[in-house]
Amino acid sequence: MTDAGRHPGIKLLTLAEVIDVKGYVGNFEVKILKKARYVSEKDCTACGECARVCPVVRPDDFDSGLSSRRAIYSPFPQAVPSAYVININECLGHNPVVCAKCVEVCEKQCINFHMSDEEVVEKVGGIVVATGMEPYDPTELDEYGYTRYENVLSSLEFERLVSAGGPTGGELIRPSDRKVPKSIGFIQCVGSRSERKGGSYCSNICCMNTIKSTLVLKEHYPEVDIKVFYIDIRAFGKGFEDLYKKSRSLGVQYIRGLPGSLVETADNGLRVAVDNGAMGKIVFHDLDMLVLAVGVQPSRTTKKLQEMLGLQLTSDGFFLEAHPKLQPVDAATRGIFFAGCAEGPKDIKESVTQGSAAAGRVARLLHRGEMLSEPITAEVAAEKCKLCNRCVEVCPYGAISIDVKRRIPASVNPAACAGCGTCAAECPFDAIAMNHFTDEQILGQVDEALSEGPEKRVLVFACNWCSYAGADYAGVSRLQYPPSVRLVRTMCSGRVDESFIWEGFAKGAPVILVSGCHIGDCHYINANKWTVKRVEKIRKKMEVLGIRPERLRLEWVSAAEGIRFAALMQEMETLRSGVSSEEIAKTVEVLAKRAAKSAPAA
Ligand code: FES
Repeated sequence: MTDAGRHPGIKLLTLAEVIDVKGYVGNFEVKILKKARYVSEKDCTACGECARVCPVVRPDDFDSGLSSRRAIYSPFPQAVPSAYVININECLGHNPVVCAKCVEVCEKQCINFHMSDEEVVEKVGGIVVATGMEPYDPTELDEYGYTRYENVLSSLEFERLVSAGGPTGGELIRPSDRKVPKSIGFIQCVGSRSERKGGSYCSNICCMNTIKSTLVLKEHYPEVDIKVFYIDIRAFGKGFEDLYKKSRSLGVQYIRGLPGSLVETADNGLRVAVDNGAMGKIVFHDLDMLVLAVGVQPSRTTKKLQEMLGLQLTSDGFFLEAHPKLQPVDAATRGIFFAGCAEGPKDIKESVTQGSAAAGRVARLLHRGEMLSEPITAEVAAEKCKLCNRCVEVCPYGAISIDVKRRIPASVNPAACAGCGTCAAECPFDAIAMNHFTDEQILGQVDEALSEGPEKRVLVFACNWCSYAGADYAGVSRLQYPPSVRLVRTMCSGRVDESFIWEGFAKGAPVILVSGCHIGDCHYINANKWTVKRVEKIRKKMEVLGIRPERLRLEWVSAAEGIRFAALMQEMETLRSGVSSEEIAKTVEVLAKRAAKSAPAA
C-alpha cells in the first residue's frame, strides 16, 4: 500500500466512490465522488494530538467495535495516506462551532472545516475491479448465540483480539470477565456451504484461518484447550496440510460435526451440543469462549458497480469472469479486469496472484497505444435504420448509439462491440449485419443442413462458448449421440434470429433446438435473456400458425456438460421421430403461404 502511495505512476484517490463510468476499452471516463477529509492530506503528520483532545468517542470499526476511536481518527495503523480524517456526522466542531478543540491543538493547522466533497473525472484505458468482500454477519444464525452471549465472537473479532496491534495488545481475554479462557471452540462454515443462511459456496479461507489461530494460541497459551467443530477441513495449498497436521499434533481437537444448540452456563461459559457422527450420539462440550469462523460475502458495492460497468454476477453475487480457465481475470466487457475477492472468495496468495495477473493484462492492453479488436462486430446499414432504438435497448455493452431527435441512424462502436449479435437478431428492419455471422452465412448453413432428407434431421443452433463447446466435449469424451444432429454455430444464442427458425421449419426441419450458456453464464453479459424472450415469442407465433410449439426447444448446456449434451441430442432425436411427414409437410405449406403473403408485390 505504501509502495502504491509513493509510486509516481499511481494516483491514489482515497475516501472516494465511483459514481459513474462511461466509455469503452481504452477510453473509459470514470466519475468519482471524492469525499472531504477535513484534514490536509499533505500537511498532516499523524501526530495524533487532535484525537487526544476530541471528546467524541465511537466504536472503532477496524477493531470490530472492540475498541473505540474519536471523531477525528486514523482509519487503521498502516493507512495510506497516513493523514487523519474527520467523520463529519460525528464531529461537534462543525458549523455552528461548539468544540473545535482539534483545530486549537493542531500546530500545522491541517484542519479545515470548509473542505467539501468534490466530483472528479478520470480518463483511463482499463479498469481493475478490486472491491474485496464483506465478512458474513452471523447475527441471523441465532442458534450460535452471537447476539445473546458475550463470549461468542466472530473470527474477525477474535483476530483483532489476539492481534498485537489490537485492543488488548495481543492479550487473549474473555469479553465477559477479561480473564484468559481455559477452553475455546471454533465453529467452521458459519455462513458458508449453507443452503439456509449465508452462501452455499465454500469461503476458501476459513479453515486455514482457524488453523492459523489455533497455532497462534498454542504458541502463546499452550494450556488452553481448543476444539474445532467442522464439516470437513479444506487445507489445500502449499504447506497447508502440514500446518493442519501441526495443529493436531499440538493437541487441538478436530471434532466432525457442527453444534446444533448452545446454552450459556452459570459462569458465562458455553455448553454446545454436537451430533458426533462417529459415536452416533449427541456430545456436550463446555467451553469458555466460542469463535464463529464466518464466511465471505460479496462486497456491498458489487451490485452498484455491476450496473455501472455492465458486468455480470454469478448466482453467489460475485463478479463473473469472462472464462473460468482461459480468462480468469478478465470481465466479459473488454478493458475491465478483476483482482481478489471481487471475483470470488480467495486467500492472500491467490489475491496477490490475481492482482498481478490483472495488472499484467492491463499493461499488455495499454502499452502499445493501439489495440487489435475482433473482427466479429456488428455493422449498421444506415439507410435501413428506422430509428426504432431496439438495438440500443438490447446491446449488453452500450456499443450502439442513435440520435432519434436529430434523426441520426444507429452506429456501432467497434471497440465496444463484443460481437454477440443480439442487435442483428432483434433489429426488425434487418438493418444490422454481424460480420462473419451474417444472415446469409447462417441461412446458408441451415439450407445446407436440411438439403437432403430434412425430415431425418435435428437442427441445433449452438452458442460458441458453451453449447458448441459442450458438443465438442461430448465428442472428445467419445460419447455417442444421434447422427441426425446438424449443428449451426453462432457466437451467442442471442444471435439466433427469428428468421433462422422459420427458415429451418420452412425447409422441413421436424424439430429445432436453440442452445446456449446457462442463464447467468452468457459470455456476453446477459444477451441470452433476449434469446429466452425471442424463443417464447416464436413459440406463440407457432401456436397461432398451427405448428406445435414443442418442436422448438430452448436448452442451456455448458462447456463441461458433454454428457448432458449427448443426452439432450438423444431427447431431440426422440422428439424428431414423433413428428410425422404429414405434420412437416403442413408446416412447410403454412410457412410458404405466410412468406408469399409478406413478400413484396412484383
Ligand atoms: Fe452462450 Fe451467450 S455466449 S448464450
